[in-house]
Amino acid sequence: MHEDIRVNGDRLWDSIMAMAEIGPGQQGGSSRLALTDADRAGRDLFVGWCREIGCSIEIDDMGNIFAQRAGRDSARAPVAAGSHLDTQPHGGRFDGIYGVLAALEVLRTLHERQVETGAALEAVVWTNEEGSRFAPAMIASGVYAGLFDKEYAWARADSEGRTIGEELRRIGYLGDVPCGEHSLGALLEAHIEQGPILEAEHNQIGVVIGGQGQRWYDVVLRGQDSHAGSTPMRGRRDALVAAADLIGRVQALAHELAPHAVSTVGEMTVLPNSRNTIPGEVRFSVDLRNPDANVLAEMDTRFRADTEAVAERHGVAWQVDQIWDKPPVQFDSACIAAVESAAGDLGYRHQQIVSGAGHDACQVCEVVPTSMIFVPCAGGLSHNEAESAEPADLEAGCNVLLRAMLALAQ
Ligand code: GLV
Ligand code: MN
Ligand code: MN
Repeated sequence: MHEDIRVNGDRLWDSIMAMAEIGPGQQGGSSRLALTDADRAGRDLFVGWCREIGCSIEIDDMGNIFAQRAGRDSARAPVAAGSHLDTQPHGGRFDGIYGVLAALEVLRTLHERQVETGAALEAVVWTNEEGSRFAPAMIASGVYAGLFDKEYAWARADSEGRTIGEELRRIGYLGDVPCGEHSLGALLEAHIEQGPILEAEHNQIGVVIGGQGQRWYDVVLRGQDSHAGSTPMRGRRDALVAAADLIGRVQALAHELAPHAVSTVGEMTVLPNSRNTIPGEVRFSVDLRNPDANVLAEMDTRFRADTEAVAERHGVAWQVDQIWDKPPVQFDSACIAAVESAAGDLGYRHQQIVSGAGHDACQVCEVVPTSMIFVPCAGGLSHNEAESAEPADLEAGCNVLLRAMLALAQ
């Protein structure tokens, strides 16, 4: 082992800041939605950096990028680390980006020191983790893990009808390797925690043991368009008032199943969206999450019953399509141990933690031994342009990643 090797925290920070300039947000964050021109530019920057240190690049037909630094033993499957470069519409500089560039920083450090590893090491970029432009989230890592069909994934469309398949081709990232064929021996993903636990516990490293389950739905409520002035209040079939009622229930059911249940309505379309027409149709998303599969199933049952009751009360028709069911996952014990030992050996305060956010690692773990490394972020805030993390914490997480990857690749 190379006990004394540490990553270059300044270089890691500078790379994160350089990536943030691509698809900049309005308030200091980033807006680099999946498969946009900005996403292409971010990918190009990453690929260029990897080529500078002699990595070979493989791109699969979901646009996932595998940058490889060869090892001594080409018969062994590579030990990989990575995350995503796409962001939320009002995204921060760190969500996803940190994990990709921490993996790159590990490869840069080993390149500079001319360290040979047994297995090859890789930095990986997964396509469309956020699920913001194309739902559901983590779709390309999901195809990799055999959880989604490729044809289904290619056909997922954004709000303007453009599909993942078309957009991959348009930005030049429709690779020729069938997704899932690129084998990995292990995968680690470094990420900001996106929650308040590490900060509250004054710990620098979260050893992630698994991720909570989540279910995503598309809901449509249909009432009747009608004149805002001349239609009496009694007898209206106002789809937006019904939606407001149902959204209140979605929030309440998570409170009822405290402490871990969370629920969110984040996206909505109101039709015809005219101030003097009673809204006849409302479409919105629902996101339910829980670390316990039984509680998540109970959330689903309550949500469906509430939908029926609310629709009845408001005289609207309803449709609920569950577009994603992601059960809770547990990570691989050897990968967890590699992260935990690395954090301990390096003297960082650490704790085990379950991820509240979804991650590509939560998909890939179905087929590859996997774990994650969390570092704190200020106030636990994420999916917000103000998302921020301390350079020293990012560097610590990257040092843990380096050490754990070296141990797994030995
Ligand atoms: C991804 O960011 C998610 O957890 O929804
Ligand atoms: Mn992320
Ligand atoms: Mn995210």
